[in-house]
Amino acid sequence: MSFERNIIITGGAGFIGSHVVRLFVEKYPQYHIINLDKLTYAGNLANLKDIEDRPNYTFIKADICDFETVKRVISENGVDGIIHLAAESHVDRSITDPFVFAKTNVLGTLTLLQAAREYWEPQGWEGKRFYHISTDEVYGALELTRPEGDPDGNECGGGPYGEDFFTEENKYQPHSPYSAAKASSDHFVRAYYDTYGMPTIVTNCSNNYGPYQFPEKLIPLFINNIRNRKPLPVYGRGENVRDWLYVEDHARAIDLIFHEGKVAQTYNIGGFNEWKNIDLIKVLIRTTDKLLGRPEGSDDDLITFVTDRKGHDLRYAIDSTKLKTELGWEPSLQFEEGIEKTVRWYLDNQDWLDNVTSGDYQNYYSKMYDSR
Ligand code: NAD
Ligand code: DAU
Repeated sequence: MSFERNIIITGGAGFIGSHVVRLFVEKYPQYHIINLDKLTYAGNLANLKDIEDRPNYTFIKADICDFETVKRVISENGVDGIIHLAAESHVDRSITDPFVFAKTNVLGTLTLLQAAREYWEPQGWEGKRFYHISTDEVYGALELTRPEGDPDGNECGGGPYGEDFFTEENKYQPHSPYSAAKASSDHFVRAYYDTYGMPTIVTNCSNNYGPYQFPEKLIPLFINNIRNRKPLPVYGRGENVRDWLYVEDHARAIDLIFHEGKVAQTYNIGGFNEWKNIDLIKVLIRTTDKLLGRPEGSDDDLITFVTDRKGHDLRYAIDSTKLKTELGWEPSLQFEEGIEKTVRWYLDNQDWLDNVTSGDYQNYYSKMYDSR
C-alpha cells in the first residue's frame, strides 16, 4: 500500500502520544502512521485499542536509543516526518533516577536526529520535518507575585498568580533532572537545524490532563485515590501553580504546527489556565464525589500535606500568543468542562486504571511484542 506520507510518532503508546497517534490515524487515512515506542512502564497499547487494526497504522516496539533499528525503520518505510514525544516524563522519577532521563531524553533524541539525517540529507531536506515535543519546564520557574490569585490577572497584565509568563524568548533555566534533559534535547534539535539545515520545529507545552495519563501524575493519581478513599499526598502546602491544558487541545496544536508551523521556530502551547495545586485538588475532590454520588465534602479529609518535592518549581505559566496570532490555535475546552470530562473518563474506565496500577498491562502487551 502506498501512502502520501510516512510519519513516525515516537512515544505513541504514552499519554499525549496516544492522543496524537489517534488524531493522525483518524484524520489522515492517506498517511502511514508508525508508532515507535519501547513500551516502558509508561507505554500502554491499551491506550490505542480502538485504532490498532487501522490499515494506515503500524506499531513498532523499539528503543529510540537503538540507532540501527531506528535508521532501518526510517529507511524501510521511506519516512519523511518525525513527531518526537518519547521521553521519560515524570519529574519525581528524575529526582531518584536521573541517568535514564539523560539516556532517553538526550541520547535518544540525538539518535533519532542522526538516524533521520543520514537518511534525509542525501535526498535533500525538501518535504522533511523533525518535530520535537518539549515542555515549559525548560524555562525554569516564575515568581508567585499574586499569591492570593487575582481573578482579573489575565486582563490587567500577566496571569492570576503573577505578572510574567514564559514566552518563546525566555532563557533556558531548567531545575530538575527531567527538565535539564529536555532542555538539552531541545538544544540538540536546534543544533541540527543550525548545523545541517534539518527542518526542525520545537514546541514547549504546559501541563496536560485528560484520559490515558499514567496515574503517577497529579490528576489521575488523585482521582484514583479519591475513588479508593486513599490519602492525597499534597507536596508542601499545595501553593505551587501549574497551567493546565486538555490533552486533545495539545494534540490539535501538534497537528497544526506539524503541517503549518515554520521551520526552525519555537512555539509555546498553553491554556492561559493557571491553578494553585490545592485549589485544583479541591475541584477534583468535589467533581469526583459528585460523579460518585457521595455527599459534598465527604472526602476533603483525604488531603494530606507531605514533604515537598526537591527543587519544586513554584509557578509555570505559558504565553501562547504567538501560536494564536500566527496559526490561529486556541484551546477549545473550558477547564471546568475538561476536568469533569476527565474525572468521568477515569471513573468509567476503572479497568484501565486497575490494569495500570497493578502492572498487568505490561505483562500482556510487552510479552506479545517481545515474542515477535
Ligand atoms: P508518557 O510518560 O506518558 O509517555 C512516554 C512514552 O514514551 C511511553 O509510551 C514510553 O513507553 C515511551 N518511551 C520512553 N522511553 C522510550 C525509549 N527509550 N524509546 C522509545 N519509547 C520510549 O509521557 P507524556 O506525558 O505523554 O509526554 C510525552 C512528551 O510530551 C514528552 O516528551 C514530555 O516531555 C512532553 N510533555 C509532556 C507534558 C505533560 O503534561 N505530560 C507537557 C509538556 C510536554
Ligand atoms: O509543565 C509540563 C510538565 O508537566 C511536563 O513536562 C511533565 O512531563 C509532566 O509530568 C508535568 O510535570 P509536573 O511536575 O508539573 O506534573 P505532576 O503531575 O507530577 O505534578 C503537578 C503538580 O502537583 C506539581 O506542582 C507537583 C504536585 N504534586 C504532584 C504529585 C504527583 C503533588 O502535590 N502531589 C503528588 O503526588
